[in-house]
Amino acid sequence: QRRFRIAAIPGDGIGKEVMPEGLRVLQAAAQRFGIGLDVVHMDWAHCDYYLQHGKMMPDDWKARLADVDAILFGAVGWPAAVPDHVSLWGSLLKFRREFDQYVNLRPVRLFEGVPCPLAGRRPGDIDYLVVRENTEGEYTALGGIMFEGTEREIVIQESVYSRVGADRVLRYAYELANQRERKRLTVATKSNGIAISMPWWDKRADAIGEGYPEVAVDKQHIDILSARFVLQPDRFDVVVASNLFGDILSDLGPATTGTIGLAPSANLNPDRRFPSLFEPVHGSAPDIYGQNIANPVAMIWSAALMLDFLTEGQGAGRQAHDAILAAIEAVIAEGPRTRDLGGTASTSEMGKAIADRIV
Ligand code: NAD
Ligand code: IPM
Ligand code: MN
Repeated sequence: QRRFRIAAIPGDGIGKEVMPEGLRVLQAAAQRFGIGLDVVHMDWAHCDYYLQHGKMMPDDWKARLADVDAILFGAVGWPAAVPDHVSLWGSLLKFRREFDQYVNLRPVRLFEGVPCPLAGRRPGDIDYLVVRENTEGEYTALGGIMFEGTEREIVIQESVYSRVGADRVLRYAYELANQRERKRLTVATKSNGIAISMPWWDKRADAIGEGYPEVAVDKQHIDILSARFVLQPDRFDVVVASNLFGDILSDLGPATTGTIGLAPSANLNPDRRFPSLFEPVHGSAPDIYGQNIANPVAMIWSAALMLDFLTEGQGAGRQAHDAILAAIEAVIAEGPRTRDLGGTASTSEMGKAIADRIV
């Protein structure tokens, strides 16, 4: 029986409130299905650490994570104290890049018992996967400001797409679509306006698609694609997008399922050369921090995705994942529910209820 070593990094704000619930359910599921877990708590990669040390993480952060199988991450950011680009480029974005987590897998699903903000939609109508490119694209630190502070200021920020980088995330998305019943892949593009990188991205999608004749591919400009997330969510099965487009779609999609407090994400290094990182899609939510009202489901679901990935979707790990999802479904349907779901439960009450449902 293999044991897994997990680094727990709560981060800032509600990251610190949802992490204990993620761990509670993770431990319950691991125990139930006989999965050995060693959780190592890391008290860095948060803004208080930055205020004390002038950096988000210790210099040897990589060595401290050298022997972990995966990272469970809360959320980072406390913009009142540290500028967001400093805290995020100093932590989360560093993990994604240095650990080559080139796939950001973000499931979107409407649950029974959640009033859908879209008229007339039922569970089953919204059930798709956003595959977000996670290491390049629009997220770069390449560029600069000229004539700063004058009326002649010019700002340049480059985007970067590599063939290796595009092909591998597109291939992942095609593979995923090919394994699903509907075998539909939507490629987010903007080849009409972003006239160099996006026509090229479409071409790479065509090239990779040659290997997947059974997958029905649909390229959509990001503007109308966003509109269809709202108007025709049942069209979508797997959606692949560049870093920024995927970021936006992965808040919009969950918003159509009632609350972003449900949305999980898996930052994957599918090659398994480096640890993958599992975290809610949402951030540190300073507006609700300290009240114990944050929805813990995004964190708990992320932990389930971690177990599934660690065990390559086999045996106990898959069973533990499925049991966590079933417990989430039951508690969302029957309560106790947090405020964003229309209930009055606290973060810990909802987390406990989900843990108690693991059978
Ligand atoms: P946010 O996701 O933190 O919050 C947006 C809104 O959604 C807020 O009104 C918040 O109260 C609500 N919300 C978020 N999670 C919730 C939950 N679990 N339950 C109930 N309500 C929830 O986005 P923001 O306000 O743009 O960002 C706040 C900080 O978090 C910033 O520093 C930002 O950079 C950072 N951030 C970090 C991550 C990350 O670490 N992965 C992701 C997004 C934003
Ligand atoms: C996310 C977040 C991050 C991103 C921010 C905090 C840098 O919004 O994980 O979706 O843009 O990737
Ligand atoms: Mn985001």
